[in-house]
Amino acid sequence: MGWKLELSCIFLAAMVIEAMLFHVTAEPVEDKQALLDFLHNIGHPHSLSWNENSSVCTSWRGVTCNNDQSRVIAIRLPGAGLSGPIPNNTLSRLTEIQTLSLRSNGITGPFPLGFSELKNLTYLYLQSNKFSGPLPSDFSVWNNLTVFNLSNNSFNGSIPSSISHLTHLASLILANNSLSGEIPDLNIPSLQELNLANNKLSGIVPKSLQRFPSESFSGNNVTYASALPPALPVSPPKEKSKLSEPALLGIIIGGCVLGFTVIAAFMILCCNDSGREDGGLPVKSQKKEVSLKKTTSESQDKNKMVFFEGCSLAFDLEDLLRASAEVLGKGTFGTAYKAALEDATTVVVKRLKEVIVGKREFEQQMEVVGRIRHENVVALRAYYYSKEEKLMVYDYYEQGSVSAMLHGKRVEGRSHLDWDTRLRIAIGAARGIAHVHTQHGGKLVHGNIKASNIFLNPKGFGCVSDIGLATLMSPIPSPALRSAGYRAPELTDSRKATHASDVYSFGVLLLELLTGKSPIHNMGGEEVVHLVRWVNSVVREEWTAEVFDVELLRYPNIEEEMVEMLQLGLACVVRIPEQRPKMPHVLTMLEEIRRMNTGNRPSSESRSEVSTPTVIAADIASSSVPQ
Ligand SMILES: *[C@@H]1O[C@H](CO)[C@@H](O)[C@H](O)[C@H]1NC(C)=O
Ligand SMILES: *[C@@H]1O[C@H](CO)[C@@H](O)[C@H](O)[C@H]1NC(C)=O
Ligand SMILES: *[C@@H]1O[C@H](CO)[C@@H](O)[C@H](O)[C@H]1NC(C)=O
Ligand SMILES: *[C@@H]1O[C@H](CO)[C@@H](O)[C@H](O)[C@H]1NC(C)=O
Ligand SMILES: *[C@@H]1O[C@H](CO)[C@@H](O)[C@H](O)[C@H]1NC(C)=O
Ligand SMILES: *[C@@H]1O[C@H](CO)[C@@H](O)[C@H](O)[C@H]1NC(C)=O
Ligand SMILES: *[C@@H]1O[C@H](CO)[C@@H](O)[C@H](O)[C@H]1NC(C)=O
Ligand SMILES: *[C@@H]1O[C@H](CO)[C@@H](O)[C@H](O)[C@H]1NC(C)=O
Ligand SMILES: *[C@@H]1O[C@H](CO)[C@@H](O)[C@H](O)[C@H]1NC(C)=O
Repeated sequence: MGWKLELSCIFLAAMVIEAMLFHVTAEPVEDKQALLDFLHNIGHPHSLSWNENSSVCTSWRGVTCNNDQSRVIAIRLPGAGLSGPIPNNTLSRLTEIQTLSLRSNGITGPFPLGFSELKNLTYLYLQSNKFSGPLPSDFSVWNNLTVFNLSNNSFNGSIPSSISHLTHLASLILANNSLSGEIPDLNIPSLQELNLANNKLSGIVPKSLQRFPSESFSGNNVTYASALPPALPVSPPKEKSKLSEPALLGIIIGGCVLGFTVIAAFMILCCNDSGREDGGLPVKSQKKEVSLKKTTSESQDKNKMVFFEGCSLAFDLEDLLRASAEVLGKGTFGTAYKAALEDATTVVVKRLKEVIVGKREFEQQMEVVGRIRHENVVALRAYYYSKEEKLMVYDYYEQGSVSAMLHGKRVEGRSHLDWDTRLRIAIGAARGIAHVHTQHGGKLVHGNIKASNIFLNPKGFGCVSDIGLATLMSPIPSPALRSAGYRAPELTDSRKATHASDVYSFGVLLLELLTGKSPIHNMGGEEVVHLVRWVNSVVREEWTAEVFDVELLRYPNIEEEMVEMLQLGLACVVRIPEQRPKMPHVLTMLEEIRRMNTGNRPSSESRSEVSTPTVIAADIASSSVPQ
C-alpha cells in the first residue's frame, strides 16, 4: 500500500513539473510583444519593468492570462506612474482582454481609438488620469461591458447615446470631466450605478435615469422639470381623477417589473392606511388617487428604489393598477405582502417597521445582502428606503414557509412533511446559512433563523430568508416573543447576533423538524414549554423515541438518521456559545446523514435488530450537554 502511494505521488509531481514547464514555454507571444511595445512607448518609472525573458503569465506585474495561458485577459496597473498618451496599436492588440485598469496614473491624450478592437472588454477603469477629448462614439462594439469608469479626467464633448446598446452595463461613472450637451435617454435595465456629477451637462434628466439619486447629476445644469414639477400641488380629487401618466412614470423607475410591483404594493399599503375617504368616485379610482398623492410626495426626494439585478419586462400603467397585494403575515420585523402582477410575476414585499439605523448604514447592509446569489438563500431583489417607508422585495415561494408546512392547518390532500423533505430542508438551510457566514469578510450574520423564514427552493431544499435585518432594527424585547424560542440564551440584544447564536437558532430548527413541535409550545394545560429544554429533559430521561414527531414514526429505518440529527441539534443548542459547532461543520454532519439516507440504507430486515430506542438514548445522553 505504502509504496503504491509513494509512486503515485512521484507520478503526480512529475505531472505538475511537466505542466509548469509546459506553461513556461507556451505563452501568448503576440500579447507579450504588444505589452512590451506599450510599456516602451509610454512614460513609466524604472520600478515598473517587465522582463522579456520571464513568463508574461506568471511573473509580469499586473498581467493575468486565461486558464490555458494562451491569451492575456486582464491588465491591472493602478497608480503605476504611467504618463503620456497610450501608444497607438499596442493595447488594442490584446483582443481577448476583459479587464483593463489603468486608473490613477498620469495618462494624457485621447481615449484610444484602437480600444474598439477589444471586443471582450468587460471592466474598464481609466479614472483619475488626464485623458481629454471626446468619448468613443460607438459603444456597441463592447457587448459585455459591465463597468465603465472614466471619472476624474478631462473628457469633453457629449455623452453618446450608443451607450444604451450596452445590455450588461452595471456602472457608468463619468463624473469630474467636462462633458456637455444633454443627457441621452439611456434605458439600460442592468444599470445599477450612474455618476455624471461635475460636468457641464444641461437640459432634462431623462425619465429612464430618474431612478438614480440626485447626486448622480449634481454639479451640472440639469432639471427634472418635465417629469416632476417642483411643487406639485396636492389638488382636489376631481382634478386628479385622470392620472397623470408622465408624472407617475417619472416617479417609477423606467420600465422595470419589480419597480412596478413595489410601487403597486406600496400604493395598496397606502390605501389601507388612509382608509376610506369621502369622494364621489368609485372605490377603485379612489385608490388610484390616494396612491398618486402619496407616491408623489414620497418621491420628492427622488428615488431610493435600489435593484440588485436587471429586470427587463415592461408593464403599462394598467398592469400596475391591476396588481393585487395580499397580507402573508406579520413577522418579527414587519409585515410581508404578496404582490401579484397579471403576467404571473409574484414577489414578496416586506414592509419594515422600526428600522433604527440611518440610510447609509442601511444601504451598506443591503449592498452586502443584495449581492448574495445562492440556491439556498432567498434572493433580495430590491429595496426602498425613505424616512417614512422601508420596503424589501424578495422572491415569492408558492408553498409557503417551513413553519406553515410543519404547523399550519392540514389542507385536505396535502401530505405532511416526510423525513426526506425534512432532511432536505435542514441541509439546504444549513448550506444557505454557511454561505451567509462567509459573506462580508465572514462578518455577516443571519440574525433571525426560524422556520417561518425558511422556504423550499425548486429542488426541494431549504432556502433562508430575512438575512441581516436584525442588526438594523430596534432590539426585540426579550421575552414575550415567538422568536425568543430560537434565540440563543446569551443574546440579550437582538442586534448583537453572532455566528454562534445563528448556530443555536439553527439547532432549534433541527429539533423542530424532528419533533414537529414549535420552539415554544403548549403541552396542554397552562404550562409553556421551551422546545430545547423539553428535548433535553426527555433525552436525559432516556425516552428518546418520545421526542420524534409521530408522523415520522411510520417510516421504517429512519431512527438512526433521526437520532443523528437529534445529536447534532442538541450540540447546536448547548448553552456555551464557544462549544457549539461552526456552520460548515454542521453542514458536513447533515450531509453525512443524507448520504446514509440515500446511499446504503440497510434493508428493513437487517436493520430491525440494530437499534432500540433505549440504547440510542443512552448514547445521546452521554454525548450531549444538557442545558
Ligand atoms: C534576455 O535574454 C537575452 C539572451 O539570453 C539577453 O540578451 C537579454 O539581455 C535578456 N533580457 C533581460 C531583460 O534580461
Ligand atoms: C495615433 O494615431 C492617430 C491617427 O490614427 C494619430 O492622430 C495620433 O497622432 C497617433 N498617436 C500617436 C501617439 O502616435
Ligand atoms: C461575454 O462574456 C461571456 C462570459 O462572461 C463570454 O462567454 C462571451 O464570449 C463574451 N462575449 C463577448 C462578445 O465578449
Ligand atoms: C471573447 O469573445 C469571443 C466572442 O464572443 C468568445 O468566443 C471568446 O471566448 C471570448 N474570450 C474570452 C476569453 O472570454
Ligand atoms: C482625481 O485625479 C487627480 C489627479 O489627476 C488626483 O490627484 C485625485 O486624487 C483624483 N480624485 C479622485 C477622487 O480620485
Ligand atoms: C470610479 O472611479 C471613482 C474615482 O474617480 C471611484 O471613487 C469609484 O469607486 C469608481 N467606481 C467604480 C465602479 O469603479
Ligand atoms: C470628483 O471630484 C471631487 C472633488 O475633487 C471628489 O470629491 C469626488 O470624489 C470626485 N468624484 C469622482 C467620482 O471621482
Ligand atoms: C474639447 O477640448 C479640446 C481641447 O482640449 C477642444 O479643442 C475641443 O473643441 C473641445 N471639444 C468640445 C466639444 O468642447
Ligand atoms: C442652465 O440652463 C438654462 C437652460 O436650460 C439656462 O437658461 C441657464 O442660463 C443655465 N444656467 C447656467 C448657470 O448655465
